[in-house]
Amino acid sequence: MSAALSSQCVVAVIGAGAMGAGIAQVAAAAGHRVRLLDNQAGAAARAVSGIAAQFDKLAAKGKLSAEQAQAASARLLVAEQLSDLADATLVIEAIVENLQVKQKLFCDLEALVGTDCILATNTSSISITAIGAALKRPQRLAGLHFFNPAPLMALVEVVSGLATDAPVGATLFATAAAWGKTPVHAKSTPGFIVNRVARPYYAEALRVLTEGGADCATLDACCREAGGFRMGPFELMDMIGHDVNFAVTRSVWNAYFCDPRFLPSLMQQELVDAGFLGRKNGRGFYCYDAQAEKPLPATEAAQPTPGEIVVYGSSPAARALAARLSARAVAFTQQSAQGELLARAGAATLCVTDGRSATRRAAESATPNTVLIDLALDYATATRLAISVAAQCALEATHAAVGLLQAAGFAVSTLRDVPGLMVMRTVAMLANEAADAVNQGVCDVAAVDTAMRLGVNYPQGPLAWANAMGVAQVGTVLGHLADTYGEDRYRTSPLIQHHIYAAKAFA
Ligand code: NAI
Repeated sequence: MSAALSSQCVVAVIGAGAMGAGIAQVAAAAGHRVRLLDNQAGAAARAVSGIAAQFDKLAAKGKLSAEQAQAASARLLVAEQLSDLADATLVIEAIVENLQVKQKLFCDLEALVGTDCILATNTSSISITAIGAALKRPQRLAGLHFFNPAPLMALVEVVSGLATDAPVGATLFATAAAWGKTPVHAKSTPGFIVNRVARPYYAEALRVLTEGGADCATLDACCREAGGFRMGPFELMDMIGHDVNFAVTRSVWNAYFCDPRFLPSLMQQELVDAGFLGRKNGRGFYCYDAQAEKPLPATEAAQPTPGEIVVYGSSPAARALAARLSARAVAFTQQSAQGELLARAGAATLCVTDGRSATRRAAESATPNTVLIDLALDYATATRLAISVAAQCALEATHAAVGLLQAAGFAVSTLRDVPGLMVMRTVAMLANEAADAVNQGVCDVAAVDTAMRLGVNYPQGPLAWANAMGVAQVGTVLGHLADTYGEDRYRTSPLIQHHIYAAKAFA
């Protein structure tokens, strides 16, 4: 295991924008002398005073002593020109996202710094291998991908290009850890880990919205209140900005030679064309005018509690449903497992979605009164559940299913009968992408789960989630999505198939 760089080492940060300033703050807080350079006159000095103000704020909150804040600020130095960085042991570049400009900068640096100096780039989308190709010694270049805002976000992706020396990646990993971050190793591939594996969170939501599954507020509410995601996909895309999010989606799709897995949505294109970029200009999926009312999720009106309720088996959903009914003193009986049946409520048959539409499942199982429920992160604590109702289902049966779920304390949102509902198809596709990243040697299981929890705040790593619901269930959902849509986008990762046949969880 490589050691972290000593805090005696000088760290240079080039680019004093949002990311460079944050990274400089992190390195100075960790005890390094930091030289900050920007080619825009006054930018580095402004960033240095901004960081000093941050240290003062931390001192005011009691997170640093006044002496520590002062010492950290004193370690930050403005560099006037590239030659001021000659004594650096680590240079972190956070300039404009352009391959040629980054290559030129690293070539100039190569001629200047000592032979042991590590060169790192904070690029979020450019190949480390491609940047390194311009260097005489690409072995010492790696990605050090911080997340915004760098002082607050724990994750750092340490990205190795084809030529990167393993000890360089190991030193950066140890150094990021010494700076209080949680690093993960990744191989240089488009989107690295987070920007690749997160694509389905947006893509599946856009697909469900395009197919009229429900409105944005309802789908966002399902992702938050059943899926446990901190933000729904539409409010998140509005926050990121559709120009930025669409550009990342297109760049990952192009970089994978137009693999349909990453196909952008026409809806993103429309928003960008219309100039509806999200929060930053007041309109995206939602309207951010001061007078605009926040739309509420569509929620079923109260239905009477059905007289006859049976809960089947001991799946997590069944156990939680039974516990919730008991806690609310609702009368029900329990029976041993019967296939995939979750519950009966009056004439209704309830099952957890397996990626088929309710209508197809009703037809294939000769059970007209079929109602499907969506995946929840934890059925015991979820406050909302999405359902879909078979076209064949009688109205009284629908009402009974809704009444049962309401009696168990769920707000119920009925989606149009889209296959895999909202949370289930999203989580299955996140797990599929995470498995592909592991299968292709980009990172290991622990890294992808850590990256998605810390980089985008997912409530659970996608592969831990696959384990929790059963890898076989993920495979079933993906298989049904694939045969419903007939698209390569839903092909099951070979690693998921492997784990199903080996009857193994991800570890
Ligand atoms: P920014 O636009 O806020 O800052 C870039 C700074 O670099 C500007 O101050 C600019 O004057 C300076 N600059 C440009 N060319 C330069 C050069 N040749 N020499 C010296 N300084 C130069 O950009 P931001 O957002 O800080 O991004 C910087 C890098 O970090 C990009 O590669 C970006 O892809 C990456 N990144 C951005 C994230 C974000 O959320 N903004 C997250 C993770 C990575």
